[in-house]
Amino acid sequence: MQLNQREKDVLQTLREKVKARLKDESTGHDWFHIQRVETTAVKIAEKEGADVFVVSAAALLHDLIDDKVVIDEAKERQRIENWLIDLNVSSKDRTHIFDIIESISFKGGHGKPLQTLEAKVVQDADRLDAIGAIGIARCFYYSGSKGQKLDDTSFPVRSEMTLEEYRNGPSTAINHFYEKLLKLKDRMQTSSGFLEAEKRHLFMEQFLEQFFEETR
Ligand code: ADP
Ligand code: NI
Repeated sequence: MQLNQREKDVLQTLREKVKARLKDESTGHDWFHIQRVETTAVKIAEKEGADVFVVSAAALLHDLIDDKVVIDEAKERQRIENWLIDLNVSSKDRTHIFDIIESISFKGGHGKPLQTLEAKVVQDADRLDAIGAIGIARCFYYSGSKGQKLDDTSFPVRSEMTLEEYRNGPSTAINHFYEKLLKLKDRMQTSSGFLEAEKRHLFMEQFLEQFFEETR
């Protein structure tokens, strides 16, 4: 499905707004993450036959209402809703876009169930950015920004955790591989997403093998 000119213009305006909003973000949710997720999501959407406009818009907006990025989630939601209304995005598409944004976060496994193909596509693209070489880089970057340790075997890998524990409990960068990154491949929702995840997963396994050989 080709985007029409009006849809291209709406997406371009959203790109500028999101870029301005995230320019000072330092937790790994920066503009470059959003750009990668949009690009990957569009590729998957084309292969899976999903609505490219809704997928692109949701990918662009997916981290803006995150509890890690903003303090007042309701206020931020309203602000984004107003952007979309001002850009004449239909109420059907607006509802769909918000459903996607609100359901895709990992949150230690506490996200809402996914409703549509478009939600699955955006979630797969977001998760692909958390694995492979880019995922490894982001994991260490995020850990550093939170003052977490690199690796410490006295920290147990947590299998069950509440959202609060997932966000703020003590852990290490290496433990995050076991608490989240290595679980993502089997939770991919589309076959195109899964194919790419398999490659990235293998690379993380090789990285860990080499890391332990050098350090433990
Ligand atoms: P979530 O979906 O869990 O909210 P995000 O995908 O928004 O997490 O997290 C942004 C990036 O930071 C991802 O690459 C993620 O793997 C990484 N990250 C999140 N939590 C941690 C953590 N506790 N330790 C290391 N990296 C983390
Ligand atoms: Ni994201």
